[in-house]
Amino acid sequence: MSGVVGYIGDKNTVEVLVAGLHRIKGHDSAGVAVVNDQGVSAVKSLGKLENLEAKLAAQPVSGAVGIGHARWATHGVPNETNAHPHFDAADEIAIVHNGIIENYQELREALQQEGVTFRSQTDSETLVHLIRKYYTGDLFKAVQQALQGVKGAWALGVVCKNNPDVLVVARQGSPLVVGFGENEAFMGSDVSAIIKYTRDVVYLDHGQVCEIRCDGIKVEDLAGNAVTPEVIHVDWDDSAAEKDGFPHFMLKEIHQQPEVIRSTLRGRISDDGCSINLSDINISEEEIKACPRISIVACGTSWHAGMVGKYLIERFAKIPVELDLASEYRYRDPIVEENSIFIPVSQSGETADTMEAIRLAKSQGAKILAVVNTVGSSVARESHGVIYQQAGPEISIASTKAYTTQVTSFVLLTLWLAQIRGTMTQDQAKEMIEHLRTLPEKVQAVLENQDPIKALAGKPKYRDAQSAFFLGRDYNYPSALEGALKLKEVSYIHAEAYPGGEVKHGPIALVTNELMVVCVAPQGNIYDKMVSNIQAIKARAGLVISIATEGDDNIQAYSDDVLYIPECYEPFTPILVAIPLQLFAYYVATNRGCDVDQPRNLAKSVIVE
Ligand code: AGP
Repeated sequence: MSGVVGYIGDKNTVEVLVAGLHRIKGHDSAGVAVVNDQGVSAVKSLGKLENLEAKLAAQPVSGAVGIGHARWATHGVPNETNAHPHFDAADEIAIVHNGIIENYQELREALQQEGVTFRSQTDSETLVHLIRKYYTGDLFKAVQQALQGVKGAWALGVVCKNNPDVLVVARQGSPLVVGFGENEAFMGSDVSAIIKYTRDVVYLDHGQVCEIRCDGIKVEDLAGNAVTPEVIHVDWDDSAAEKDGFPHFMLKEIHQQPEVIRSTLRGRISDDGCSINLSDINISEEEIKACPRISIVACGTSWHAGMVGKYLIERFAKIPVELDLASEYRYRDPIVEENSIFIPVSQSGETADTMEAIRLAKSQGAKILAVVNTVGSSVARESHGVIYQQAGPEISIASTKAYTTQVTSFVLLTLWLAQIRGTMTQDQAKEMIEHLRTLPEKVQAVLENQDPIKALAGKPKYRDAQSAFFLGRDYNYPSALEGALKLKEVSYIHAEAYPGGEVKHGPIALVTNELMVVCVAPQGNIYDKMVSNIQAIKARAGLVISIATEGDDNIQAYSDDVLYIPECYEPFTPILVAIPLQLFAYYVATNRGCDVDQPRNLAKSVIVE
């Protein structure tokens, strides 16, 4: 996600803005705008914040009210033109925005019809031109009216040359907090951006617009109903504030999953809920129809997500899918068929093995369609088409939200492929999309019931285990692989994963009463087979933790412990079971005193072979 900051008062506005931007993790460009006698002055830069600071040192700007932005690109590559703040045509109104505007194309086209010229490729720029359209002197009213026609998510900061004593902010989806000082006020995407100056804050709620003046605020909803928000005192220290109060980035990012899955879906589902819109990924319907085979290639967690993608695409879009680890693909002389589609999966978009695999496939004529989280990354730039995960920056080395948004991206891709190839009826697609829309709230439900997971992770027989198996079948074999990787990389417990049906072909020799065996067994077509595998483990005194569907009492007879997930459409269970697996790994690791966010020997992006 990007980050927004704002200030109004007697301090050095640019200093306050830049200090706030430094607290926002992960960005590709930044900028500030301040209101002064000359109008609205802005400075923007590409890359690190230090570049902005250097430009500000060379061309200082000042003013009593201002806004700032650290951009994590979602629409439009990272460059100065796409960096925020964005301006109206008269350069009198400036905005900073965090979020995704779902209907920005239709808004952009309508504004262009009215003669508006756009400068950037961003969805955000539509907002400033809409505000200008409704502006008649009252900035608060103009923002309120402009947002009534907008769909999507925003944390928005707005300033105007003609309203030098006002900062207007608004929130829908993306977080936004307002802080109060002595005859001054602050705004930020999260409290870490303003906690240096104030601990008395208001968290705006969805659909609210707030006019900030030095001596107080006015809050209304979009319909103009007044709201009296609660002022709370935040007593986090600086480090906790950076993690939104969580002890580690990993736990913060696990809890971001309901919202980031919504971001992955945002703007992708038709209003009637019957179809998917991936028309912007630069792969034509003809190319989809002509495709004889898909190759999915990735590393680590991204490879696990790609495996779920393989199961989904073959089952619902009926296209053969090959799955490869990038480090193997690039050296095994793969056969790349004409018109085949090659799908690299990468959170960072910089993984060396994945990059080399792309170059090999491209050299042999494949069409490259990437699933990636980082806009403007090497993978994105070297692909013909891209599906962005929209997960925002993932700071913790252990991938969590990147995994679930990658799997969600594969669900969207599967539906889109099936739509084009005619392998699903409209009713089947509608049913799948209905299940898809319930995912964020189901993930939230698991997050709100994590005490059993925490308790399990504290049991010495699990916390102090020397080794662990993770078992799963079909869609949930990749879940087992991901659960094993999470546990081993943050707690250093040796863990390996097998398909449930494979254990009897050798690994079962290792089953003793000291071996922890996590069995992923939600309700589904292969549930009975999985229970048989669990029985075989239990018969040899293995320590079984089952991940099962709420209401399944049957499985308790063969398990030492059971962690439950809400009922879930089987093809989407990998997204839901990932949550208890992530939390189990996290709590075992913290119980063992491990450095969860920076595990030994690991890097966030493996840019070397
Ligand atoms: C997973 O928790 C690890 N961080 C690692 O396996 C990671 O998924 C792998 O290195 C691939 O990274 P990428 O998605 O950025 O390409």
